[in-house]
Order: sequence, then C-alpha cells, then structure tokens
Amino acid sequence: MYRTHTCGELRLSDINKEVTLAGWVAIGRNLGGLTFVDLRDRYGITQLVFDMDDNAELCERARKLGREFVIQASGTVRERASKNPDRETGDVEIRVTRFEVLNAAKTPPFTIQDDTDGGDDLRMKYRYLDLRRNAVQRNLLFRSNLAIETRKYLAGQGFVEVETPNLIKSTPEGARDFVVPSRMNKGQFYALPQSPQTFKQILMVAGFDKYFQIVKCFRDEDLRADRQPEFTQIDCEMSFIHQEDILNTFEGLTKYLFQQALGITLGDFPRMTYDEAMRLYGSDKPDLRFGMEFVDLSDIAKGKGFPVFDGAESVIAICAPGCADYSRKQVDELTEWVKRPQIGAKGLVYVRYEADGNVKSSVDKFYSPEDLQVWIERCGAKPGDMLFLLCGEEEKTRKQLSELRLEMGSRLGLRKPDEFKPLWVVDFPLLEWDEDEQRFFAMHHPFTSPKPEDIAKMESDDHTVLKGIRADAYDLVLNGVEIGGGSIRIHDRDLQSRNFRLLGFTAEEAEAQFGFLLGAFEYGAPPHGGIAFGFDRLNAVMNGANSIRDFIAFPKNNQGRDMMIDAPDSIKLKQLEELGIRVVTE
Ligand code: AMO
Repeated sequence: MYRTHTCGELRLSDINKEVTLAGWVAIGRNLGGLTFVDLRDRYGITQLVFDMDDNAELCERARKLGREFVIQASGTVRERASKNPDRETGDVEIRVTRFEVLNAAKTPPFTIQDDTDGGDDLRMKYRYLDLRRNAVQRNLLFRSNLAIETRKYLAGQGFVEVETPNLIKSTPEGARDFVVPSRMNKGQFYALPQSPQTFKQILMVAGFDKYFQIVKCFRDEDLRADRQPEFTQIDCEMSFIHQEDILNTFEGLTKYLFQQALGITLGDFPRMTYDEAMRLYGSDKPDLRFGMEFVDLSDIAKGKGFPVFDGAESVIAICAPGCADYSRKQVDELTEWVKRPQIGAKGLVYVRYEADGNVKSSVDKFYSPEDLQVWIERCGAKPGDMLFLLCGEEEKTRKQLSELRLEMGSRLGLRKPDEFKPLWVVDFPLLEWDEDEQRFFAMHHPFTSPKPEDIAKMESDDHTVLKGIRADAYDLVLNGVEIGGGSIRIHDRDLQSRNFRLLGFTAEEAEAQFGFLLGAFEYGAPPHGGIAFGFDRLNAVMNGANSIRDFIAFPKNNQGRDMMIDAPDSIKLKQLEELGIRVVTE
C-alpha cells in the first residue's frame, strides 16, 4: 500500500496512529536538530518532522530532499507544538521513522504556491507544475463538480446525453472553421464543429425529445479573456416546447448549480428585451450589479447653440454616483480613456452636481444653470453626483457609453465578484446588417425562428422593417457576461427557405450547405428549440474570475498556441503528401 492516508486527512483524532503518506515535497526547513518537510498532494499539506536525536541518518537524508521530490514517508501522528490554524491538518505532524524517495525532481522554474512568481508564459509551458498549485486545482475540481451536477440535473429532467461527431462540415455559427484534411478523400476537408447545432436538431427529428451534451466546440476567432479556440458548451435541445419551457428548464439548471456548487439561492431571473437592454445599457449583455442606466438628453441638449451636440444624432448621459468631487486630472484622464481607439469617442462632457447644490459643467458657455438643472432632474442625479455625456451617431454612442458605464462601475467598486445578477435577454432581432458585406446575417444562426407575429415582415424589401423582425432568440447573461444563447428553430421548410433568401443564400447554396438538414426536415420535424451555455464562462463567472483560462486544464494562449506541447506545429512533408496537400513556397 503506497499510503494509508492522504496529505489532507489527518486530525487530532488520529494522534498516535502509525501512518504512511505519499506526495510532493512543498518545502523543507531545518531548525536546529529538527527538520520539517511540508508534504503536499491534491488533498492538502501535512507537516513531516525528522528529529536528529531520534535518527541522525534519517534526518541527514531528509535535509537533502529538494522541492517537488516525490516521497513516501511513514511514522506516528503527534500533536504539533505550534499549530497552524490556516491548514486543516495544522494541529498535527508526522514524526517520521522511515521514508523513501520515489522520484527526485529538478528545481521547478517557479514556486508552486498560491502567489506564484511564475509569469503567464512560463506557467503555461510548465502547465503540469502550474496545475499542482492549489488555486488552479481548486478551479478544476470546481469545474469537475459542476459538470457532474449538470449531468445529474439534466438526467433528472429526462435529458439524454448523445455524442455528436467532431469531424463534420461547416456549421452555421458564423466564426471561421478549423479544418482537417482528409487522406481518404484527397483535396477535401472536414470542419471541426463550432457547435453541434445541426446534429442536435437532427436528433429532434429522430425523436430524442430532450438532448444534452457537455461538448467541445471549435472556433477560429480572435481570442480574448473569455474566448478560447476550443471551449466547452452545455448543449441542449428540446422538442414540443415553447421558449418559456426552455427558459424555465435552464433557469432551473442555473439555480441548481449555484445552490449545489456555491450554496447560493438565486431568485427568479428578470427578463429584458434586446431593445430595452440596448436603450438602457447600450449592450445586449448588461451587467446588472449596478444601475447607471442611460438617459437620452438629445431633445433637450440639442438646439441650444453647442455645435458638437447640435450636429450629433444622439446625446446620452449616465449619472456616476458620488463622483462630483472628481479632480480635473481624473476627468481629463477619463476623457483620454473614452478617446482611445478601442472606445472611439470624440470627447466627454461632464456636469458636476456638487454636494452644496452648485452645478458646474464643461459646457457652461452654452447652457444656463436652469438648462443643466433639467438634465440633472431627468437623470435623477443627487447632490454629489456627476453626469457624463457622450454624443454622436446613436448606435456608436450607446456602445461607447456602455464601455464607460462598465469602467465607472469597476472604478467605483460596483462590480463585486461575489454578487450574482442573472438576466434573460429576449426578443433578439432575427437579422443583423453587415455594412462591409452589404448583406444581412443571422444574428443567432439561420435556423432561428422569427416571432410568429413578425413573419409577415419577412416579405418586405425595406431594411428598416427587416431589421425590426424579432426572433424567438434569447441569451442568459450573468454579471455582464453572455453565459448562454439559444432559440426556437424554424421547422417549416417554406419559412426556412424564406429565411435563407433574406440571408442572401440562393436555393442551390442553401441546399449545398444544409441540404442534409433541410432533407431531414421533410421527414417530420417536430417543433423544437434549444440553448447552449458556455461552460468555461459559467465556471469563471461563478468564481468571480475574468479569464476562462484558469478553468481550463490545458488552455491556449492569446496567439492560439499550446505552450506546453508547442502546437500548432509544422508537419512532415510525407504527411502532407499523404493528405494530397502541396506546399507552395515563395
Ligand atoms: P452561441 O454561439 O451563442 O450559440 O454559443 C453559446 C455559448 O457558448 C459560449 N461561447 C464561448 N465560450 C468560450 N470561447 C468561445 N470562443 C466561445 N464562443 C461561444 C458563450 C455562448 O453564449 N448552437 C448555438 C446554441 C443554440 O442555439 O442552441 C450556439 O452555439 O457563452
């Protein structure tokens, strides 16, 4: 037997027991005639003690143990003279009588502790050492538990887990595909699934009724803190349901997961239409941990002789609570912040509503105190608050102000990592106009159903009418992060054809790309719909973390590289030849 106990197990009740532990040497300390070694495994750390007076030879050997050596040690459990209340095993230590080095280790390139000295790249290169750290292990254990609880909940609701293939052809999620050349079909390529979308719909045609899968998806897109080229979805589809059934089922799942994993009881999730979210927050994923809703001042701020506002389509404000005492320097710095290319605002107008009731603004020249008082009232500002105004083309201004709102929320400490504000955003537009390509794209994907009352609008040629078509499409947003999205699908062939036409597909193109699905729909497709949660994001948000990387065992860096295995990599000429791929060198 390698061990009788783990390194996280022993307590005062085990005093005098003869035990054997195995693990990694976290750290060693020599204090006079005593040598202490912290022995670590995934369950915890236990202190080993070697006494010169007991066994000098054993103690000498223990002094030679290096960090991360793998050892097995046997001895007696005894009460510690100086206890460590920060450790569950901190009341006891093992007085070692025998130990064996199972494997020596090189000195690790960074310290394996919570606050490590290792930079990002170094930790990724030696991910196996990084994974030994408590913080990372905790995240992966959390993730494992969340996956198990997800399966329990969905199985309890009658969902069937079905695996769908990874070597497929292009799916309609709108990012670039990763492709895999086929040796047996030279010149042809599989695509890795951006999601199992078409397969899960086909499973509904096949009669599975309730499907789920915790599944890897692949998207070749620019990477950010909340995006990885391969990520995991909790993917689901249901038949004979309405939008309401899906929202209820997945609100139930989310509440269950919060309860099981965090002991937090979430109340019923509020709902907001896409239009309202854009109007109040300039975002389809508003962070509801704080207010600062947008207030449109266009009608009262324009036409008073301030050329910047007069020439703008919209003038919109937020009220930053308690910010009236911002210094000139702070306002200038914030102005520079909104003018950065990433935000792209032309400038920032402020109105200070000072604690004593005085009003000062950067546009005093153009507006009377009475004018400014009307703005203040409309914004519901209190003495001590500050209004920030942006102006320009409406859509752009809302996006920019949304960034400023989030920034102010962060600066004011209003985005607390341990507070959770879920939200369903519903009634997304069906179509999204792409200025560069001069065509409509599906906002969710081409199988998303328009709302029944908006179907007639699909016959229109008027872009404004088409942009106004709403879909039975919804997102789950948590603390400003899009956790999941889904829709009710079109199951009627004629309606699907009409949708393809709006998206600029000819009948032939639609047939070539999605013929298999359209064909399946001709053999009795039930009304159906579904949703997919971003599993990595759910883990991160539940832990108040920004980066999903910390919840993925082997993530890619921002260049899409796996630093540990050094991928992607070139392949041998012979392999390329087998695949029928010719390399053209310049
Ligand atoms: P969607 O494209 O909205 O929908 O994806 C669902 C959820 O997956 C997560 N997600 C990602 N997470 C990490 N890295 C990425 N690159 C990434 N891309 C997406 C997000 C997102 O909300 N087939 C549809 C679902 C459906 O209609 O049923 C789909 O994939 O949290």
